[in-house]
Amino acid sequence: MALDDYTCVLVTGASSGIGAAVVRSLCARGLTVHAMARRQQRLDALAEETGCVTHVLDVRDTAQLFQVISGLDADIVVNNAGLGRGFGNLHEATLEDIDTTIDTNVRAAIHVLRASLPGMLSRNCGHVVNMSSVAGLHPLTSPIYGASKAAVHRLSQNLRLECAGSRVRITEICPGRVSTEFFDVAVDDPDKRAAIKNTGINELTAEDICDAVVYALDTPWRVNVSLIELQPTEQVFGGANLAPADG
Ligand SMILES: NC(=O)c1ccc[n+]([C@@H]2O[C@H](COP(=O)([O-])OP(=O)(O)OC[C@H]3O[C@@H](n4cnc5c(N)ncnc54)[C@H](OP(=O)(O)O)[C@@H]3O)[C@@H](O)[C@H]2O)c1
Repeated sequence: MALDDYTCVLVTGASSGIGAAVVRSLCARGLTVHAMARRQQRLDALAEETGCVTHVLDVRDTAQLFQVISGLDADIVVNNAGLGRGFGNLHEATLEDIDTTIDTNVRAAIHVLRASLPGMLSRNCGHVVNMSSVAGLHPLTSPIYGASKAAVHRLSQNLRLECAGSRVRITEICPGRVSTEFFDVAVDDPDKRAAIKNTGINELTAEDICDAVVYALDTPWRVNVSLIELQPTEQVFGGANLAPADG
Protein backbone atom coordinates (compact mmCIF):
# COMPACT_ATOMS: atom_id res chain seq x y z
CA MET A 1 0.00 0.00 0.00
CA ALA A 2 2.28 2.71 -1.20
CA LEU A 3 0.83 6.06 -2.17
CA ASP A 4 -0.07 4.87 -5.67
CA ASP A 5 -2.49 2.29 -4.17
CA TYR A 6 -4.61 4.99 -2.53
CA THR A 7 -7.15 7.12 -4.37
CA CYS A 8 -8.99 9.43 -1.97
CA VAL A 9 -7.55 11.70 0.72
CA LEU A 10 -9.07 13.93 3.39
CA VAL A 11 -6.87 16.73 4.74
CA THR A 12 -8.23 18.76 7.66
CA GLY A 13 -6.74 22.18 8.34
CA ALA A 14 -6.05 22.52 4.63
CA SER A 15 -6.38 26.29 4.19
CA SER A 16 -2.80 27.16 5.22
CA GLY A 17 0.55 25.90 6.44
CA ILE A 18 1.20 22.16 6.66
CA GLY A 19 -2.27 21.11 5.48
CA ALA A 20 -2.11 23.23 2.33
CA ALA A 21 1.36 21.85 1.53
CA VAL A 22 0.04 18.28 1.85
CA VAL A 23 -2.92 19.09 -0.42
CA ARG A 24 -0.56 20.49 -3.08
CA SER A 25 1.73 17.47 -2.90
CA LEU A 26 -0.98 14.78 -2.98
CA CYS A 27 -2.93 16.51 -5.77
CA ALA A 28 0.31 16.53 -7.78
CA ARG A 29 0.53 12.76 -7.22
CA GLY A 30 -2.88 12.35 -8.86
CA LEU A 31 -5.01 11.59 -5.80
CA THR A 32 -8.49 12.99 -5.23
CA VAL A 33 -7.90 15.32 -2.30
CA HIS A 34 -10.69 16.66 -0.08
CA ALA A 35 -9.51 19.83 1.66
CA MET A 36 -11.35 20.90 4.82
CA ALA A 37 -11.11 24.19 6.77
CA ARG A 38 -13.21 27.22 7.75
CA ARG A 39 -11.77 29.91 5.44
CA GLN A 40 -13.58 29.63 2.14
CA GLN A 41 -11.43 32.09 0.17
CA ARG A 42 -8.26 30.20 1.05
CA LEU A 43 -9.82 26.90 0.05
CA ASP A 44 -11.17 28.37 -3.19
CA ALA A 45 -7.67 29.58 -4.12
CA LEU A 46 -6.20 26.18 -3.26
CA ALA A 47 -8.84 24.43 -5.39
CA GLU A 48 -8.08 26.75 -8.28
CA GLU A 49 -4.38 25.96 -7.93
CA THR A 50 -4.53 22.19 -7.30
CA GLY A 51 -7.93 20.84 -8.31
CA CYS A 52 -8.72 19.69 -4.77
CA VAL A 53 -12.33 19.32 -3.59
CA THR A 54 -13.19 21.78 -0.81
CA HIS A 55 -15.30 21.49 2.33
CA VAL A 56 -15.84 24.72 4.27
CA LEU A 57 -16.34 23.36 7.73
CA ASP A 58 -15.50 23.90 11.38
CA VAL A 59 -14.23 20.53 12.57
CA ARG A 60 -15.94 21.21 15.92
CA ASP A 61 -19.32 21.02 14.16
CA THR A 62 -19.73 17.30 14.83
CA ALA A 63 -22.92 16.70 12.86
CA GLN A 64 -21.58 18.38 9.71
CA LEU A 65 -18.23 16.68 10.12
CA PHE A 66 -19.78 13.20 10.19
CA GLN A 67 -22.06 14.06 7.29
CA VAL A 68 -19.15 15.10 5.06
CA ILE A 69 -16.75 12.31 6.05
CA SER A 70 -19.33 9.54 5.75
CA GLY A 71 -19.74 10.36 2.05
CA LEU A 72 -16.03 10.22 1.21
CA ASP A 73 -14.59 6.71 1.66
CA ALA A 74 -11.17 8.28 2.20
CA ASP A 75 -8.17 5.93 2.06
CA ILE A 76 -5.96 8.53 3.72
CA VAL A 77 -6.89 10.96 6.48
CA VAL A 78 -4.42 13.68 7.36
CA ASN A 79 -5.82 14.76 10.72
CA ASN A 80 -4.08 18.10 10.82
CA ALA A 81 -6.50 20.90 11.85
CA GLY A 82 -5.18 22.47 15.02
CA LEU A 83 -4.20 25.60 16.86
CA GLY A 84 -2.59 26.87 20.02
CA ARG A 85 -4.99 29.32 21.65
CA GLY A 86 -4.02 29.79 25.27
CA PHE A 87 -0.39 29.19 24.33
CA GLY A 88 1.77 30.17 27.29
CA ASN A 89 0.82 30.00 30.93
CA LEU A 90 -2.23 27.96 31.89
CA HIS A 91 -2.91 30.16 34.92
CA GLU A 92 -3.37 33.17 32.63
CA ALA A 93 -5.36 31.48 29.85
CA THR A 94 -9.01 32.31 29.21
CA LEU A 95 -11.53 29.51 29.53
CA GLU A 96 -12.60 30.16 25.95
CA ASP A 97 -9.06 29.64 24.66
CA ILE A 98 -8.63 26.47 26.71
CA ASP A 99 -11.86 25.04 25.31
CA THR A 100 -11.06 26.09 21.74
CA THR A 101 -7.70 24.31 21.81
CA ILE A 102 -8.96 21.13 23.46
CA ASP A 103 -12.12 20.98 21.33
CA THR A 104 -10.18 21.45 18.09
CA ASN A 105 -6.98 19.50 18.74
CA VAL A 106 -8.46 16.61 20.73
CA ARG A 107 -12.23 16.25 20.52
CA ALA A 108 -12.57 17.06 16.81
CA ALA A 109 -9.45 15.03 15.93
CA ILE A 110 -11.02 12.00 17.61
CA HIS A 111 -14.32 12.64 15.84
CA VAL A 112 -12.53 12.72 12.46
CA LEU A 113 -11.15 9.26 13.26
CA ARG A 114 -14.46 7.94 14.58
CA ALA A 115 -16.06 8.96 11.30
CA SER A 116 -13.25 7.63 9.06
CA LEU A 117 -11.96 4.42 10.62
CA PRO A 118 -15.02 2.15 10.21
CA GLY A 119 -14.84 2.51 6.42
CA MET A 120 -11.07 2.00 6.35
CA LEU A 121 -11.33 -1.12 8.48
CA SER A 122 -14.18 -2.60 6.49
CA ARG A 123 -12.29 -2.00 3.22
CA ASN A 124 -9.08 -3.21 4.92
CA CYS A 125 -7.23 -0.26 3.43
CA GLY A 126 -6.31 3.02 5.01
CA HIS A 127 -3.72 5.35 6.45
CA VAL A 128 -4.24 7.89 9.22
CA VAL A 129 -1.69 10.65 9.70
CA ASN A 130 -2.20 12.48 12.97
CA MET A 131 -0.46 15.85 13.32
CA SER A 132 0.93 15.94 16.82
CA SER A 133 3.87 18.06 18.00
CA VAL A 134 7.11 17.95 19.95
CA ALA A 135 4.98 19.76 22.56
CA GLY A 136 3.18 16.44 23.08
CA LEU A 137 6.46 14.63 23.74
CA HIS A 138 8.61 17.13 25.68
CA PRO A 139 7.91 19.71 28.39
CA LEU A 140 7.54 23.15 26.82
CA THR A 141 6.08 26.47 27.93
CA SER A 142 2.61 25.55 26.68
CA PRO A 143 0.74 23.25 29.10
CA ILE A 144 -2.63 23.43 27.35
CA TYR A 145 -1.29 22.95 23.82
CA GLY A 146 1.15 20.34 25.13
CA ALA A 147 -1.66 18.44 26.82
CA SER A 148 -3.71 18.48 23.62
CA LYS A 149 -0.83 17.12 21.55
CA ALA A 150 0.13 14.57 24.21
CA ALA A 151 -3.44 13.30 23.82
CA VAL A 152 -2.91 13.01 20.05
CA HIS A 153 0.34 11.12 20.73
CA ARG A 154 -1.32 8.56 23.03
CA LEU A 155 -4.35 8.34 20.73
CA SER A 156 -2.09 7.52 17.78
CA GLN A 157 -0.10 4.86 19.58
CA ASN A 158 -3.21 3.18 21.01
CA LEU A 159 -4.84 3.18 17.59
CA ARG A 160 -1.89 1.16 16.33
CA LEU A 161 -3.07 -1.56 18.71
CA GLU A 162 -6.70 -1.17 17.64
CA CYS A 163 -5.81 -1.50 13.95
CA ALA A 164 -3.26 -4.30 14.34
CA GLY A 165 -4.13 -7.18 12.01
CA SER A 166 -5.66 -4.90 9.41
CA ARG A 167 -4.06 -2.97 6.57
CA VAL A 168 -4.92 0.32 8.24
CA ARG A 169 -1.77 2.20 9.17
CA ILE A 170 -1.38 4.93 11.77
CA THR A 171 1.36 7.55 11.58
CA GLU A 172 2.04 10.33 14.04
CA ILE A 173 4.06 13.37 12.96
CA CYS A 174 5.67 15.47 15.71
CA PRO A 175 7.10 18.69 14.32
CA GLY A 176 9.13 21.25 16.20
CA ARG A 177 8.89 24.87 15.13
CA VAL A 178 7.44 25.26 11.62
CA SER A 179 7.11 28.59 9.84
CA THR A 180 3.33 28.87 9.31
CA GLU A 181 0.45 31.05 10.53
CA PHE A 182 0.29 29.04 13.77
CA PHE A 183 1.47 31.83 16.10
CA ASP A 184 -0.53 34.52 14.25
CA VAL A 185 -3.61 32.54 15.29
CA ALA A 186 -2.32 31.53 18.72
CA VAL A 187 -1.21 34.87 20.16
CA ASP A 188 -3.24 38.11 19.94
CA ASP A 189 -0.83 40.53 21.64
CA PRO A 190 1.53 41.83 18.91
CA ASP A 191 4.54 42.22 21.26
CA LYS A 192 4.13 38.72 22.73
CA ARG A 193 3.60 37.32 19.26
CA ALA A 194 6.73 39.02 17.92
CA ALA A 195 8.74 37.74 20.90
CA ILE A 196 7.58 34.18 20.40
CA LYS A 197 7.97 34.27 16.61
CA ASN A 198 11.37 35.95 16.39
CA THR A 199 13.48 32.99 17.46
CA GLY A 200 16.32 33.78 15.07
CA ILE A 201 16.55 30.10 14.13
CA ASN A 202 15.99 28.55 10.73
CA GLU A 203 12.53 27.08 11.23
CA LEU A 204 11.15 24.08 9.42
CA THR A 205 8.90 24.77 6.44
CA ALA A 206 5.45 23.33 5.80
CA GLU A 207 7.03 21.47 2.88
CA ASP A 208 9.53 19.79 5.22
CA ILE A 209 6.62 18.35 7.22
CA CYS A 210 4.76 17.44 4.03
CA ASP A 211 7.80 15.46 2.86
CA ALA A 212 7.64 13.42 6.08
CA VAL A 213 3.92 12.78 5.57
CA VAL A 214 4.47 11.63 1.99
CA TYR A 215 7.39 9.42 3.05
CA ALA A 216 5.15 7.63 5.57
CA LEU A 217 2.33 7.23 3.03
CA ASP A 218 4.64 5.96 0.30
CA THR A 219 6.20 3.04 2.18
CA PRO A 220 5.07 -0.50 1.24
CA TRP A 221 2.11 -1.80 3.27
CA ARG A 222 4.32 -3.96 5.53
CA VAL A 223 5.88 -0.76 6.89
CA ASN A 224 4.02 1.35 9.46
CA VAL A 225 5.92 4.56 10.10
CA SER A 226 4.60 5.02 13.63
CA LEU A 227 6.15 8.30 14.67
CA ILE A 228 8.35 10.91 13.03
CA GLU A 229 9.79 13.72 15.13
CA LEU A 230 11.28 16.58 13.14
CA GLN A 231 12.98 19.57 14.68
CA PRO A 232 14.88 22.49 13.27
CA THR A 233 18.59 21.75 13.54
CA GLU A 234 18.85 24.80 15.79
CA GLN A 235 15.99 23.79 18.14
CA VAL A 236 17.14 21.51 20.96
CA PHE A 237 15.36 20.43 24.13
CA GLY A 238 17.52 20.53 27.21
CA GLY A 239 19.58 23.49 25.98
CA ALA A 240 21.91 23.90 23.06
CA ASN A 241 25.64 23.40 23.50
CA LEU A 242 26.94 26.64 22.03
CA ALA A 243 30.63 25.86 22.64
CA PRO A 244 32.66 25.52 19.43
CA ALA A 245 32.95 21.90 18.36
CA ASP A 246 36.75 21.96 18.81
CA GLY A 247 36.64 24.19 21.93
N1 LIG B 1 3.64 25.54 13.21
C1 LIG B 1 4.24 24.81 14.14
O1 LIG B 1 5.29 25.20 14.69
C2 LIG B 1 3.65 23.46 14.51
C3 LIG B 1 4.47 22.58 15.24
C4 LIG B 1 3.96 21.34 15.61
C5 LIG B 1 2.68 20.97 15.23
N2 LIG B 1 1.90 21.85 14.52
C6 LIG B 1 0.55 21.40 14.17
O2 LIG B 1 0.42 21.36 12.77
C7 LIG B 1 -0.97 21.50 12.43
C8 LIG B 1 -1.11 22.53 11.31
O3 LIG B 1 -0.71 23.80 11.81
P1 LIG B 1 0.13 24.85 10.95
O4 LIG B 1 1.44 25.02 11.62
O5 LIG B 1 0.09 24.50 9.51
O6 LIG B 1 -0.71 26.18 11.27
P2 LIG B 1 -1.75 27.04 10.39
O7 LIG B 1 -1.10 27.54 9.17
O8 LIG B 1 -2.34 28.00 11.36
O9 LIG B 1 -2.85 25.95 9.96
C9 LIG B 1 -3.85 25.48 10.83
C10 LIG B 1 -4.98 24.92 10.00
O10 LIG B 1 -5.98 24.37 10.89
C11 LIG B 1 -7.25 24.85 10.47
N3 LIG B 1 -8.19 24.92 11.57
C12 LIG B 1 -8.01 25.47 12.80
N4 LIG B 1 -9.12 25.37 13.54
C13 LIG B 1 -10.06 24.76 12.74
C14 LIG B 1 -11.42 24.39 12.91
N5 LIG B 1 -12.08 24.64 14.06
N6 LIG B 1 -12.06 23.80 11.88
C15 LIG B 1 -11.42 23.53 10.71
N7 LIG B 1 -10.12 23.85 10.50
C16 LIG B 1 -9.45 24.46 11.50
C17 LIG B 1 -6.96 26.23 9.86
O11 LIG B 1 -7.97 26.56 8.91
P3 LIG B 1 -9.12 27.67 9.11
O12 LIG B 1 -8.59 28.72 10.06
O13 LIG B 1 -9.36 28.17 7.72
O14 LIG B 1 -10.28 26.89 9.65
C18 LIG B 1 -5.66 25.95 9.14
O15 LIG B 1 -5.91 25.41 7.86
C19 LIG B 1 -1.70 21.86 13.72
O16 LIG B 1 -2.32 20.70 14.24
C20 LIG B 1 -0.58 22.32 14.64
O17 LIG B 1 -0.90 22.13 15.99
C21 LIG B 1 2.36 23.07 14.14
